[in-house]
Amino acid sequence: MRKIFLISLIFILALTFTAQADEIKIGACIYRFNDAFMLRFRNAMTDEAAKLGAKIELSDGRDDQNVQNEQIDAFINDGVNVLIINPVDRMASQPIIDKAKGKNIPVVFINREPAPEMLNSYEKAFYVGAKAEESGTEAGELIAEYFKKNPEADKNHDGKIQFVLLKGQNGHQDMILRSKYSVEAIKNAGFEPVELASAIANWDKLQAMQIMNAFTMAIGPENIEAVIANNDEMALGAIEALKNNDYNKGDKNFYIPVVGVDANASALEAMDKGEMLGTVLNDADNQGIAAVRLANALAANGDIKAIGYEITENKYIWIPYQKVTRGEKK
Ligand code: GAL
Ligand code: CA
Repeated sequence: MRKIFLISLIFILALTFTAQADEIKIGACIYRFNDAFMLRFRNAMTDEAAKLGAKIELSDGRDDQNVQNEQIDAFINDGVNVLIINPVDRMASQPIIDKAKGKNIPVVFINREPAPEMLNSYEKAFYVGAKAEESGTEAGELIAEYFKKNPEADKNHDGKIQFVLLKGQNGHQDMILRSKYSVEAIKNAGFEPVELASAIANWDKLQAMQIMNAFTMAIGPENIEAVIANNDEMALGAIEALKNNDYNKGDKNFYIPVVGVDANASALEAMDKGEMLGTVLNDADNQGIAAVRLANALAANGDIKAIGYEITENKYIWIPYQKVTRGEKK
């Protein structure tokens, strides 16, 4: 009896040890936890890691590259098998890649795209994200489509669209390309875009609200025909400011179409209430799942072609964006 007990005990111990030894450890560095879109992204990654039986640890870079660099060192010292990096400063990715390469640790960048030459400096460096220009184009198309359906949206009847632009963090590919391509799309749809004002609001709702308050005061809400925000949080901040001016509260004569990007729950709610025109789905679920599957396969020396997402140029997984609107404005 005792012998059987001992044997089974040894067996159980052996099992746990092998399980522990085989378990993939993922260290995931997020630029900032306090970001509505990155929260969706984090949840998707945690869920997928659980499904795969991988261990994932997440760190909050608190929007400080130095803090994040220390967290990367700590993960490496902890013996993680793979890193997922959402860099604070995407242009500071080279030292991160060099460090990972020195330890032969694969690294999957997410959401903030390092320059191609950086990614190309290490065969185990990858990027999972969405094409920024696509989201810009789709946001601009939402505005153009609205003006086609609602000619009275051209309040000063000059055939042009007078807009204000709220931009994300400086240097972010989504800030640069969404800004550029949303304006481009308005042009391509046959309208002349006129930028009344633009400012950086760092993806942040409060900053956007303050900036939009200043814009409405300086320009007059009656002279603004559209608001283009690089993300939903800033769109919602702008809507707060408009509501303070008795705009976007349900009266069609006091309405300015506002578009964002992400399709966060709070934006969909604002759209349901008729406060916000539309958004573009930034697919956090698929980006998070793809990043974790890729990381897991890299760490396990598995087949990265079998993870269910196409890898282009041996480097990139691109998740498509998608326009989102609610019903028709009357
Ligand atoms: C963008 C997203 C923003 C913000 C940013 C962080 O893709 O649209 O809301 O989360 O990433 O890098
Ligand atoms: Ca006009």
